[in-house]
Amino acid sequence: MTATRIDGKAKAEQLAESITEQTAALLADHGVKPGLAVVIIGEDPASQVYVRNKKRRAEACGFHSVQHSLAGDTSQEDVLGLIDELNRDDSIHGILVQLPLPGHLDELAVTQSIAPTKDVDGFHFVNVGKLSAGHTADAFVPCTPAGCILMIEDELGGDFSGLSAVVVGRSNIVGKPMAALLLQRNATVTICHSRTKDLPGVVREADIVIAAVGQPDMIKGDWLKPGAVVVDVGINRIEKEVDGETKTKLTGDVDYDEALEVAAAVTPVPGGVGPMTITMLMFNTLRSARLAAGLEG
Ligand code: GUN
Repeated sequence: MTATRIDGKAKAEQLAESITEQTAALLADHGVKPGLAVVIIGEDPASQVYVRNKKRRAEACGFHSVQHSLAGDTSQEDVLGLIDELNRDDSIHGILVQLPLPGHLDELAVTQSIAPTKDVDGFHFVNVGKLSAGHTADAFVPCTPAGCILMIEDELGGDFSGLSAVVVGRSNIVGKPMAALLLQRNATVTICHSRTKDLPGVVREADIVIAAVGQPDMIKGDWLKPGAVVVDVGINRIEKEVDGETKTKLTGDVDYDEALEVAAAVTPVPGGVGPMTITMLMFNTLRSARLAAGLEG
């Protein structure tokens, strides 16, 4: 059996088209243009790439897009000052501070200083609390798990009753919100992590597997239940010899080729979760603009 390759790139493009249309309608009918501010602090090369892609996508959707690039030694006070300005700026509906931050900055203080109504990352405790209480009507859900859920729903429909889901990884950005979303759709959810006993055995019970650990190709084909839906959140850069040359290659947390032989559907890396994550940021920003205009909620 060869599994379906879940095309996150195509799905993200489809969704972005719909967001672009809704953005044009919001401007034409209500004079509101969604505004996204992305703050990047320091020179981390991977973060620079992610932020550039976010800006590009925001512009393509027709958003007001602002980028603040701050020096790596910017003080906590100056970062909080900028966020305060953006919180009070009516042309901005979404604020994202790219993580990780330089070591001298307090990540918790920074993420919690963003107004919950502009927290399109879904990291503020108000949004975390709403998600964990199943109150998602006016909450912002973190972009990566929100994108994963849409891809799983394409395979399995919107109700996961009777299905078991295993989330490998317990981060606040992916693992925990992912588990909350799966639970909201009636899956029986297990969260695994580095202290889990017999991880392969636990994963083998799952109809839905979410891999979010940051370990290249860790989840092998023989860890999977035949017919499982597998979503690979990992983005690992590995060095690989190709024709005597060392090249950098992106790979996920799942051994993709092995998984294809066992699962029903698998997301590739790249081209799976990544493009969906960026598009969900646009979705959240449009939603924030609509909420601010009194059109949703
Ligand atoms: N760095 C890696 N992923 C993310 C994300 O989803 N949001 C932010 N703000 N930073 C990140």
